[in-house]
Amino acid sequence: MIDIKNGISLLPYNTLKMNVKANEFVEISSVEDLRQLSSQKGFPERKKLVLSAGSNVLFSDDFDGLIMHNAIFGISVVSEERDQVILKVNGGESWPDLVEYTIGQGWGGLENLTLIPGKVGAAPIQNIGAYGVEVKDVIVSVEAFDFIIGKQVLFSADQCQFGYRSSIFKTTAAGRYFITAVVFRLSKFPRLNLTYGPLRQAFEGKTSVSIQEVSAEVAHIRRSKLPDPEVIPNAGSFFKNPIVDRTLVDKIKVNFPDLPLYQQNEAQVKLAAGWLIEQCGWKGYRMGEVGVHEKQALVLVNYGQATGAEILDLATEIQDSVLDRFGVILEPEVNIY
Ligand code: EPU
Repeated sequence: MIDIKNGISLLPYNTLKMNVKANEFVEISSVEDLRQLSSQKGFPERKKLVLSAGSNVLFSDDFDGLIMHNAIFGISVVSEERDQVILKVNGGESWPDLVEYTIGQGWGGLENLTLIPGKVGAAPIQNIGAYGVEVKDVIVSVEAFDFIIGKQVLFSADQCQFGYRSSIFKTTAAGRYFITAVVFRLSKFPRLNLTYGPLRQAFEGKTSVSIQEVSAEVAHIRRSKLPDPEVIPNAGSFFKNPIVDRTLVDKIKVNFPDLPLYQQNEAQVKLAAGWLIEQCGWKGYRMGEVGVHEKQALVLVNYGQATGAEILDLATEIQDSVLDRFGVILEPEVNIY
């Protein structure tokens, strides 16, 4: 039975801890709930938003529409072979708990994605990634409810059009689907990814490394740089790392020879937004209730009572200064409503 509530506070539902209200709010605990909801008159046109853990959103104001909170739980093994496991995980499951569970089982693939806040259903939307791995590397398929046709549909990994912090669910099909489950391919004989510098250094000289050790090291690196949203509200990286033309990079390098960069292809280079922001003097900045984290300039934080407008003002000032100094446009990584 679906139960739509009115005027609910979204404070417990977003990690930036914006104290805003939703006009309507409903818990979705099954695909059947979605069928019922979508059969209501005028549903396709209604203003609505699927919310998972709220760890990648900024509510700049009250939400004047329907929030559908993903609470579809359940994990099942689809098939198990000598070397791999195909695991289906419903969208409402916690991402960090899933990672911990798979590591406990000895199934590799998610260890580099340890401690990323959020729910499984949101992971494919922006193709979450950290320390050399993106979730697309282990996704077989995505099950979603299509609000337009009112039915379940299946996306192969290819059909999801994954890119850096992007997928079809964030671009051409944004808002059209509710991700009900994700199917992963995990390995019983994991091939570790230690391409991320600090991770490689941590295991330098070791002949055998386990997924448990990688996960513990990732947890250690994350805790040393990223604020725990339970302690200092934040939404992780506020901006994406910008992908720019080689010609611009060559210009910047004249004055900044130490510019960290990741070559994408012959013409394009990914820059570290955190570095650019730090160079503009923002790291550790605080103005009233908002600030830039002291250990990672890509993370904007709420010191307790910040409003969405204050966060947006700070974000705009940062974007302006990076554009002024480097000629680089920073795009938000968080979804702003
Ligand atoms: N850097 C600075 N100053 C800073 C932050 C970073 O100089 O304040 C430099 C670092 O020294 C390094 C480079 O920038 O040379 C990259 O920094 P880091 O490895 O910490 O990663 P990032 O590019 O800032 C990205 C992801 C993170 C992910 C890390 C690790 C994006 C937008 N962010 O950050 O993901 O955890 O890599 O893989 O791609 C998130 O998406 O919310 C997130 C936290």
